[in-house]
Amino acid sequence: MILRAVPLGGADLPWPTGEPTAGEAQRARAMADRDKAREFTLARLALRGLVASVLGLPPQVILPAYECPDCGQGEHGSPGFALYRDHGGQVGLPIAASASRAGGWALLAVAPADDGERVRLGVDLAAVADLRNAVPEAAFSRAERRRLSQVPDRGAEAARLWARKEALLKARGEGLRTDPATVETLDNPSIADLSTSGLGLPGGFVAALAVVKP
Ligand SMILES: CC(C)(COP(=O)(O)OP(=O)(O)OC[C@H]1O[C@@H](n2cnc3c(N)ncnc32)[C@H](O)[C@@H]1OP(=O)(O)O)[C@@H](O)C(=O)NCCC(=O)NCCS
Repeated sequence: MILRAVPLGGADLPWPTGEPTAGEAQRARAMADRDKAREFTLARLALRGLVASVLGLPPQVILPAYECPDCGQGEHGSPGFALYRDHGGQVGLPIAASASRAGGWALLAVAPADDGERVRLGVDLAAVADLRNAVPEAAFSRAERRRLSQVPDRGAEAARLWARKEALLKARGEGLRTDPATVETLDNPSIADLSTSGLGLPGGFVAALAVVKP
């Protein structure tokens, strides 16, 4: 498992190798906030670069093959990757990946299939200041609400639990189609809090990783 935090701001940052696909360029163009559009493109290329380095391939030969439960394979949903075959068609790459963007940073996770055994990954990165009062009580399960009523810093704990929830929902490939209140994150062995300082992130972030068997 490779986890990497990547800064998405600053004009002096090196632009990752590779070009956005037509679909990625279209998604970026549709974003009203130009900084967010740039961050989206940078994070996409950075994730492809990480997948490429893990597989020992040049990033330019790797295609995004994301999987949306509503639309099928395309440009959004759960990250997947493929190679072009010489005579048309694509071949899927045996690798699990996940990404999250928050507060000018991206968190990337990549795990190659180990002896053919694949897992599904989900990561989530959250800036505590953004989430402190943003997640409604109704988004948490009964046990989580009890926990939130008992801790001294409710806002920080809500951000931590929310990151765990999104990580798990990504690993399950569902995202927020699933009612988050039905997803239990306390004492769930599939989810781990990540050390943000260990990842080189500045203060004020929380991050979580979920790993599930398909
Ligand atoms: C998954 C989700 C909770 C993440 O949202 P977020 O917290 O705002 O954004 P993050 O930066 O943390 O994560 C975004 C990444 O999550 C991943 N992701 C998106 N949908 C995913 C899914 N169904 N399963 C797993 N991962 C998913 C992608 O890698 C995405 O990166 P991208 O923007 O480069 O495509 C949210 O996108 C969601 O609920 N999506 C499902 C709803 C949806 O997309 N509906 C449209 C259907 S047509």
